[in-house]
Amino acid sequence: MQGCLFEGLLHPGADAQELTSNGHPTFRVSGVTSRLIDLDKVGMTYQAASSPVEALAGISMSVGAGEFVSLVGPSGCGKSTLLRIVAGLRPATAGTISVAGRRVTKPIDDIGMVFQAPILLKWRTILENVLLPAELAGKDAGALRGRALELLEMAELHGFADKLPRELSGGMQQRASLCRALLLDPPLLLMDEPFGALDAMTRDDLALELLRIWGELDLAREARKTVLFVTHSLPEAVFLSDRVVVMSPRPGRIAADLRIDLPRPRTVELRATEAFGRLNLEIFRTLTGRTVGATSS
Ligand SMILES: Nc1ncnc2c1ncn2[C@@H]1O[C@H](COP(=O)(O)OP(=O)(O)OP(=O)(O)O)[C@@H](O)[C@H]1O
Ligand SMILES: [Mg+2]
Repeated sequence: MQGCLFEGLLHPGADAQELTSNGHPTFRVSGVTSRLIDLDKVGMTYQAASSPVEALAGISMSVGAGEFVSLVGPSGCGKSTLLRIVAGLRPATAGTISVAGRRVTKPIDDIGMVFQAPILLKWRTILENVLLPAELAGKDAGALRGRALELLEMAELHGFADKLPRELSGGMQQRASLCRALLLDPPLLLMDEPFGALDAMTRDDLALELLRIWGELDLAREARKTVLFVTHSLPEAVFLSDRVVVMSPRPGRIAADLRIDLPRPRTVELRATEAFGRLNLEIFRTLTGRTVGATSS
């Protein structure tokens, strides 16, 4: 039931033994620091009722441990599909996927996933929803209550802990689902447009908060979380990321993989710099095929 509702938001017992070593997540064990996620010629064809849909073709890329990588691309190019494949929620129909040096054949544990839609349990309060990963993982939810409330405060939802999801706006529900993904402090975050339904100011604030949670301010690269982040906002992708991977229209392929060599920690002022603007333009051009100065396609 839970697995069906959450499509593997957390899978009690699933691969827990394989993905942990002496109680520590393998994401942090030596030998996997350079390439945490490895995709080799990954393809995905959905067997839809009418005709097959080729969503992804020939996706080969890696994400290093501690890296922040964004995926951008047109609607329907397979970004959500790719995140689900990496999480092991859906098997690819071609190629191989490894996380922390192990082939992904089942839903993986020890990740935080933010889905494109919030997927909150409608009969549970917001706090109970945020605490759900603890219950699914067999942890003491009571002990994590303080952490859950802290996260809700960070997301400016402290007054809503005891409300039901239907009493919150779409953006508030999305923030609650972000808190849920962060509850167990997972070393790998897969985030599908987590800020999609938010107003611009909240979005910018949460982007900075996410960088803090990622470990930008105080952690060495190897101790940071690893983030694979989907967004339709190019400035957001540039602001957050070490790399931006641009996908082509369906079937999604990798059109470009651009390194964002902007200084960290990222600041609001950075957005006004020429370097920031140039990177945005470069990604925009890759995405649309437009040349500089063109005003229409
Ligand atoms: N369960 C499914 N069954 C059949 N086809 C699907 C299924 N899920 C996705 N698709 C198809 O696969 C393609 C990629 O979908 P996906 O949701 O991964 O795109 P996306 O890049 O995340 O788009 P968006 O930016 O709009 O969220 C689309 O053409 C979609 O219609
Ligand atoms: Mg999507």
